[in-house]
Amino acid sequence: MNVTHNGKSKHYRTVWFDKARNRVELIEQRLLPHQFKIVSTIDYVETARAITDMVVRGAGAIGATAAYGLTQGAWAFRGRGLKGFEKHLAKVYRTLAEARPTAVDPVNAMRWMLANITGVTVAERQERALAMAEQFADDDAAHCQALGQVGEPLIHDGARVLTHCNAGWLAFVDHGSATAPIYAAQAKGKSLHVFCDETRPRSQGAILTAWELAQQGIPHDIIADNAAGHLMQRGEIDLVIVGSDRTLGRTGEVANKIGTYTKAVLAKRHAIPFYVAIPLSTIDWELESGLDIPIEERDEDEVLRAWGITEGGRRQSVRVGNPGSTARNPAFDVTPPELITGIITPPGIFKPRHLWKNRAKLGFSGKA
Ligand code: MRU
Repeated sequence: MNVTHNGKSKHYRTVWFDKARNRVELIEQRLLPHQFKIVSTIDYVETARAITDMVVRGAGAIGATAAYGLTQGAWAFRGRGLKGFEKHLAKVYRTLAEARPTAVDPVNAMRWMLANITGVTVAERQERALAMAEQFADDDAAHCQALGQVGEPLIHDGARVLTHCNAGWLAFVDHGSATAPIYAAQAKGKSLHVFCDETRPRSQGAILTAWELAQQGIPHDIIADNAAGHLMQRGEIDLVIVGSDRTLGRTGEVANKIGTYTKAVLAKRHAIPFYVAIPLSTIDWELESGLDIPIEERDEDEVLRAWGITEGGRRQSVRVGNPGSTARNPAFDVTPPELITGIITPPGIFKPRHLWKNRAKLGFSGKA
């Protein structure tokens, strides 16, 4: 997406690879919207830490970061033996896969790479790893662009759309999932208004989605997480579009940022269409129940404190919660298929329970 920074507009992806320096380059998302900065990680361990600490976040973006991290690990290998190389790659894979457990994109990206990193020498395999990572990143951007074309007709002229968290281009390599139909509708000349759920505790809606929409000139309001029900009751929301960190291909259950399930229940109550937009790398074809999805529990400080910027421009964290109180911080929840109107995917829109029977179209290549 184009970012206007210091008066200049330039196209950026959220993540890319510097082959000459063997570094992964990232937009430092924790500083947005107050500061736009690029950081580079020096090795795969630092890349994994950047994922855990949410320098980069969002399903597709951490998928591509893990793919580049695996490449970075591959290029750091100094030996010549293929056995040693494979052992080393397995360790790099584990480190990156453990960085954040809920999103399936990193695991899908790296497993696909490992199955295709062929070559009779280490050097050939290193080149192949980079080609695969670039392919994953390009596919992610292309899939998200396709989501825009598929989802755009759902947005009528004048529509008021609710979205949760940040499933915009910052959460992917480019274009975004939930926001792609919004950008496509804008490109078609439709007028629309977006309500961004604030998305406590890390406020990705208030910080990242609002920044993206402002950059794109899309009218929007940030709303407190608890305001959506009221707006739905008053007829002020026509449509909900969210992203997903892991969608079960066998059941149609959708893991997404904490609070998504609540919004789906509310949408059902008010007969408002509720859509989930995903690239194919977000589908988990293995798990048979949403209860098996690993739900990341993050540090309680994210709930007990909040980050902001002072009048003087200094970033600061302040305590919000009662001193001495503890907190729970599950980062994701699971929405059941009966609350979801449709899953927007690159090849089309499907009922959540129809993903499995359409698995061939949706990129499933394993055993049924
Ligand atoms: O914790 P985050 O910010 O990495 O959460 C992931 C998300 O961005 C959201 O859950 C999003 O809606 C999924 S689509 C990338």
